[in-house]
Order: sequence, then C-alpha cells, then structure tokens
Amino acid sequence: MKNKHNVKRQRVKLITIGTMTLLASLSANAQSLSEQQQLELEANQKIAEFSQALKGQLQAAIKQGGLPAGVSVCQSVAPSIAVQNSTDGWVLKRTSLRMRNSNNSPDAWELAQLNQFEQIKAASVPQTHTPIVASEYVAKGDTTTFRYMKAIPTQELCLGCHGSNITPELSTLIKQAYPDDKAINFELGDICGAFSLQKVIGNQQHSITAKP
Ligand code: HEC
Repeated sequence: MKNKHNVKRQRVKLITIGTMTLLASLSANAQSLSEQQQLELEANQKIAEFSQALKGQLQAAIKQGGLPAGVSVCQSVAPSIAVQNSTDGWVLKRTSLRMRNSNNSPDAWELAQLNQFEQIKAASVPQTHTPIVASEYVAKGDTTTFRYMKAIPTQELCLGCHGSNITPELSTLIKQAYPDDKAINFELGDICGAFSLQKVIGNQQHSITAKP
C-alpha cells in the first residue's frame, strides 16, 4: 500500500530531523498520517511554543537582572507557561531524573522513559542532535491516554544554573528555594530533563505502540 509506506518514511524523518519546517510540511500532509503521528505533531508544537516562551522570558530576565532574576522566571513563570500551553486537552510539564523542584517528579511511566533516554543517549554517537522521544498509548480502565516525552539536552544557557560552575551567590539563592536541589553538575549535551505531555483521547481501545 502506497500510503502506508509514505507514513512510515515520514515518521522516521520526523524523529531524525524534527525541524519546524518539516513539521509544517508534515502538517500540510496530515491526511496521510496516523492518529498517533498527528498527536506527535501536536505535542511537538506545544513543546516548541512552551520552550520558545520560556527561553524568551528567561533570556530577557537574565539580560536585565542576571542569573538570579532568571531563577525567579524558572520558579514562577515556567509553571504558568506550562499551564498556558496546556490547552486542547493537553497537559504539559517538565520532569527529570535529577530534579530541582520535587513537584516536577516523574510518575512511573515518565521514570521508565527517562531511564530509557539515558540508555539511548549512552549508546549514541556524541554530538548527535537527534531528538530522543517516546510516544505511547497508555490504557487505564476505560480511558486511553496518549503520552509523549522529549528529552531536553543541556545547552550553554542552562549551565549557569544547572552546571558545575554555579557562582556561590547563585548557589545560595537556589539552595534557599530548593534545599533538595539535585539538578546541578549537568554537562553540555547531557539530558537535563524532558518535556512530558499527555492527552486523554477517549475510551476506545488502542494497541500499545512501542516507542521509536
Ligand atoms: C536562571 C537559572 C536557570 C537557568 C538558566 C535554567 N534553569 Fe532549569 N530550572 C531552574 C529553576 C529555579 C528550576 C525549578 C523550577 C520550578 O520550581 O519548577 C528549574 C527547573 C528545570 C527543570 C524541571 C525539573 C526540575 O529540575 O525541577 C528542567 C527540566 C530544567 N530546569 C531544564 C533547564 C534547561 C534545559 C535549561 C537551559 C535551556 C535551564 N533549565 C536553564 C533554573 C534555571
């Protein structure tokens, strides 16, 4: 079947390239995508909006008031941007294996994916920019939820607050707000955490699909 073949090829592209241009062209082609692939597109769009908004506010705050000003953006603005982007039935959050705020703790499914992400990362060639994602239908009772996660690589911008060279002043400030902080000593390219999204898609039966 011609269609089936197309779908498969596009899916591989989505995972290996994942650029906004590609997403836009895939959207135009939405008829040929499976429901799961469309949900993945929606999830990626939510992630792009969330991370652009957060990065924009974070950079503006750091420019004005340095890293300490950035801390309050992460503390108060990040959760509200997550809520703002939790529309159309989606619930969006960030989580990590090494957390700063325990409110961001992973649930069992997220924990399993985060552990798997670390294994994929360890097995991959250093400096590869392939996004690491997980996508699955999870059935509980009568309800089926689509769940999606995408690893967040540590970038230069993150090191000031999540790296191993945090200034003593900033370190004090962070420890005051987060006495149990574990989100430090990340290196460039490490998986700092992940975006995690879910959407209840009804009570029809879906086959459980393995992650890519
Ligand atoms: C100005 C300091 C600062 C910078 C820069 C920063 N963060 Fe954070 N980050 C924080 C704070 C503070 C929290 C806790 C937010 C909260 O209370 O929910 C946090 C939380 C997180 C979380 C949620 C999980 C957890 O640990 O609670 C992730 C994931 C994360 N940051 C990733 C990043 C990434 C990736 C970057 C770079 C793109 C980055 N951060 C840049 C301060 C920072």
